[in-house]
Amino acid sequence: MKLHFTEEQIMMRKMVREFAKSEIEPFVESMEKGVFPRVILKKMGELGLMGIPIPEEYEGAGMDFTSYMIAIHEISKVSAALGVILSVHTSVGTLPILAFGSEKQKKNYVTKLAKGEKLAAFCLTEPSSGSDAASMKTRAVKSGNHYLLNGSKMFITNGGEADTYIVFARTSSGSGSAGISAFIVDKDAQGLIIGKDEHKMGLNGSRTVQLIFENAQVPIENLLGEEGQGFKIAMANLDGGRIGIAAQSLGIAEAALEKATLYAKERHQFGKPIASQQGIAFKLADMATNVEAAKLLVYQAAYLKGNNLPCGKQAAMAKLFASKTAMEVATEAVQIFGGYGYTKDYPVERYFRDAKVCEIYEGTSEIQRIVISKHLLKERFS
Ligand code: CAA
Repeated sequence: MKLHFTEEQIMMRKMVREFAKSEIEPFVESMEKGVFPRVILKKMGELGLMGIPIPEEYEGAGMDFTSYMIAIHEISKVSAALGVILSVHTSVGTLPILAFGSEKQKKNYVTKLAKGEKLAAFCLTEPSSGSDAASMKTRAVKSGNHYLLNGSKMFITNGGEADTYIVFARTSSGSGSAGISAFIVDKDAQGLIIGKDEHKMGLNGSRTVQLIFENAQVPIENLLGEEGQGFKIAMANLDGGRIGIAAQSLGIAEAALEKATLYAKERHQFGKPIASQQGIAFKLADMATNVEAAKLLVYQAAYLKGNNLPCGKQAAMAKLFASKTAMEVATEAVQIFGGYGYTKDYPVERYFRDAKVCEIYEGTSEIQRIVISKHLLKERFS
């Protein structure tokens, strides 16, 4: 399979590359100091990057899913933190409302999110339920015109910065996935408390917080889909979300490969460039092969998703392989840079720190293997 991007997709890549170089790259240092890139997100909104796969009818750019993945891939080559902010905002923050929302919810929320006037977050994980998402404890009880939410959510990307939160809570007694519902919660909902900020290994500049719900009032009309449909809404959107994280991983891996290759050609030891030493040349060859394979998996999954074809297995494979590749390629890049790679003078140590979480969030690598094997075991072989 060879990748053939359309003219429109190539133009998108060119535009995002230029934007990343001129606007994002100079801001990376501030993000490394913890500054949230509000100013960059505003510019991204103006360029239509906050709603790439959202139809024009709802104020999006009306482009295909592959173009959206190209944007995450290219942005993540420069800033993986910005890559995850965009991916969470679009894939699991905005698209669930587009797919499952009422017309009123789409008009009220999707239009503003797609223009970048508002930022979204996705709230599934809890302090004691991560991989086993269906074991969540947050409850929603109907009271008059509202649901009252009680519980807490953990590791919420964009939390504290977002205006709109997609929150999952249990609406019927018992355990299991059937009693879970999804809600659209506004940031100023009474009883929604922004908890502590996580101090992470990497992805500096992307904010991650805990959320606490203390009788948080959510209007009945903000139920997303039907009562009991929440777990399926979460899972269906995570299929697309995982392709976004795979594209983010691909961006990190490709950036690490490019930096390591350039450095290996410039750095001389034993009278010649280290790239001419077979030990380093073979490392670069393996890194490049894995990056290429990750690219094929990412864009295959994006194609399937964009054409409304089943993509759960391919999304999980793309996420599993691309995140592993990001971690391995970043590790080898640090090794090729030697002592310099361990300093903050070069970006490879940032790639190394940023890559690790790609194997953890939006479903750990172990969860991706569960998803892949479940699909595999259902398949018929002739
Ligand atoms: N699409 C639609 N429905 C789906 C689905 C999908 N992809 N996957 C499962 N379902 C449905 C099933 O059909 C089933 O429905 P029925 O009961 O009607 O048959 C229901 O959901 C339950 O499915 P399972 O029995 O497979 O559910 P499970 O409890 O065994 O869990 C799991 C499956 C794959 C392990 C799931 O819990 C999972 O994905 N866990 C990981 C959670 C995760 O990815 N968290 C990420 C948090 S978000 C994040 O990280 C964002 C960020 O900040 C970057």
